[in-house]
Amino acid sequence: LLFPGLCGTSARRHSPVPFPGSIVTRAQLTSGDLIADRRAAYAHMLFEAGDPGAAADLMAQALEIAPDWPAGLDLLGRYREAAGDIAGAVEAWRALAARDTDGMFGATLKLAVHGAALAPRRTEPGYVAALFDTYADDFDAALLQRLHYRVPELVAERVANALDAEGRGVVAQALDLGCGTGLMGERLRQRVSHLSGVDLSPGMIAEARRKGVYDQLAVAELTAFLAECGGPVDLVTAADVFVYCGALPPVFAAIAERLRPGGLLAFSIETDPANRDCVLRSSLRFAHSRQASLDALAAAGFSVVSADVAMLREDRGEPIEGLVVLARRNAPVVVATPAARSEDSQDSTLPQLH
Ligand SMILES: C[S@@+](CC[C@H](N)C(=O)[O-])C[C@H]1O[C@@H](n2cnc3c(N)ncnc32)[C@H](O)[C@@H]1O
Repeated sequence: LLFPGLCGTSARRHSPVPFPGSIVTRAQLTSGDLIADRRAAYAHMLFEAGDPGAAADLMAQALEIAPDWPAGLDLLGRYREAAGDIAGAVEAWRALAARDTDGMFGATLKLAVHGAALAPRRTEPGYVAALFDTYADDFDAALLQRLHYRVPELVAERVANALDAEGRGVVAQALDLGCGTGLMGERLRQRVSHLSGVDLSPGMIAEARRKGVYDQLAVAELTAFLAECGGPVDLVTAADVFVYCGALPPVFAAIAERLRPGGLLAFSIETDPANRDCVLRSSLRFAHSRQASLDALAAAGFSVVSADVAMLREDRGEPIEGLVVLARRNAPVVVATPAARSEDSQDSTLPQLH
């Protein structure tokens, strides 16, 4: 899979990246050895021609010359997996994991999908950044035209309905988490005075900047960004982003810290048909259960306005079902201290905010 979770065969066909299934910079596309590179190129051709077993054999021969080549090990795992040799794929990804120090190749995720490692609590930032950098150029066309991606439209619709119901034309400050190329921002722009976007992928941010939709853009991991950046906001959106975040409670807690009381949070999640709280899928994306997600929202101080089942997009020709959620940050609860209660009538003690 070139783009786990998003690549139908057509997306792969249109990819500018010559080696499917690997997240690599140009430098890493070469092993550093001409003969190993040639063998890898033939392996790629065999894979494209529908013979993953032969591709895996040839790639193993390339790795005899360049045994420490991370992109080669990743491809060997991919070819073996496609050929049904899961034990062989796991062996290749184990070797990759030892060399994948910044998690850029997602070796642990790939091992976890086959039960060969514990699922991480979230997707490695290095993997997300490399994955979407690879895909940034083609993202809008692949998502909208080929994968029938609908999340920004669904999220924006819920935000607009909530603002209309309150008689508000616009909100002052909004933050779009995992803004990508700006598909969500384009839909929100009319209803927001100041729109910020944050994303791990410099390539995606460059596309968003080119569109000129956001007032401010940052390359950062979203929970770190929420913890560090300035004043409160009125609206937070996250369209098709939490599928890379794994455990949601820390994410919701970080958002609650930044949202004004009464502020809105709108996002999508993929839902697990088996209703497990949080599970890593073979697409290398996380799915969540409706109940666990809504409980986590309540625990972080949100009230759910709506949580609708929706078809989010397609993956390998199949519709992906999920939930589009709109929640409102609760006002802080005012708790009177015992001293305040006894002196209520004299108004001498201020209530504490929690
Ligand atoms: C499927 S894309 C969706 C992009 C955009 N929200 C849209 O609807 O078009 C997911 C985006 O989330 C970003 N992302 C994933 N995890 C992130 C994290 N922890 N911090 C910041 N960005 C993240 C990725 O880099 C990617 O651009």
